[in-house]
Amino acid sequence: IPPSPPGPLKFDGLKLVDDSKHPWMPLKRGDLRGPCPGLNTLASHGYLPRNGVATPSQIITAVQEGFNMENKLAQLTTYFAMIGDGNLITDLVSIGAKTPLTGMDPPPPAIVGGMHNHGTFEGDASLIRGDAFFGDNHSFNQTLFDQFKEFSQKYGNGFYNLTVAAELRFHRIQQGVATNPQFSFFGLRHLTAYAEATFPASLFVDGRKQGRDVGQLDMKSAESFFKDMRFPKGFHRSSSPVVIAGLGDLFAAHPFMPGKNNGTHVDSFVVDDSLGSLLDVCSIYTGFVSSTVRTLYPNPTGVLRRNLELNLQFLFEGLSNFGCNQIFL
Ligand code: HEM
Ligand code: MG
Repeated sequence: IPPSPPGPLKFDGLKLVDDSKHPWMPLKRGDLRGPCPGLNTLASHGYLPRNGVATPSQIITAVQEGFNMENKLAQLTTYFAMIGDGNLITDLVSIGAKTPLTGMDPPPPAIVGGMHNHGTFEGDASLIRGDAFFGDNHSFNQTLFDQFKEFSQKYGNGFYNLTVAAELRFHRIQQGVATNPQFSFFGLRHLTAYAEATFPASLFVDGRKQGRDVGQLDMKSAESFFKDMRFPKGFHRSSSPVVIAGLGDLFAAHPFMPGKNNGTHVDSFVVDDSLGSLLDVCSIYTGFVSSTVRTLYPNPTGVLRRNLELNLQFLFEGLSNFGCNQIFL
């Protein structure tokens, strides 16, 4: 039976997390890494199993311990990924490619694709990863990192902050619309795309920073996380639990509604918020359950059904600040 997710940290303050118990190690053959620079870093320091396969509880503990991500945000994010990409029977999910290490799959149309899987959690217009249409949705992309640095120079004096985030988020969407005929910016992706753009400015900034340096990520640290999957030397996590801050401002700077290109032509984007939009987080949750979950698990039975129901319960509890109506199978 999948256990209840861990609660908040007992000590949730400033702490050296690049410590001797969590040395960075290079990848060994078979170790899996994926589209999330935060989880990749945690695995390479041993906060997560170094092979990149983990339980939801391990992920929640690791993001809290290593980055001081706030408990409910950690829970919500983790269960979106677990339900979309994980093995609900074995309670394991790959932070990268699909793998036999997560155990025997439930019957199709379940995918259990790991976090590489395009369209469940992973989506288009990532900042430093390409769109799946171009063949690689998960590797560090040097061209996109150069663009990240260019925008940080232009709008942030050489630092990535929320002002840069607003511009780069919008630019990556426009790039997708103009170059990817299958560009999709739909349902859950509308929320994650804006949320993730704030993370480097909060979670990747050393918790010892004070005053005007808060929320400003330098490019050497950015490269360390995104490319090397490694804490900058002596990194301290945030001094208090990190919630998503500035999401409304990010959207308001360049409001872009969810939707898609038509699949065959670039610049064919049509707005479609039938699976929700970040203007109403509950609509995203409802869209996710009624579409992704019901498509992957049209008729679950037995242990699969029980575990799916439990995981959906944990997902819903992660939303407790939003006052949504619960959706059942
Ligand atoms: C992106 C999962 C926590 C930073 C992603 C993506 C996934 C993911 C699947 C790919 C989405 C996409 O861009 O297409 C998760 C899960 C977490 C988690 C399940 C569990 C709580 C974190 C943490 C951080 C972080 C703690 C920072 C310390 C990021 C960033 C991106 C991202 C910056 C965007 C990368 C880019 O746009 O190039 N995450 N993540 N995530 N994640 Fe995480
Ligand atoms: Mg992506």
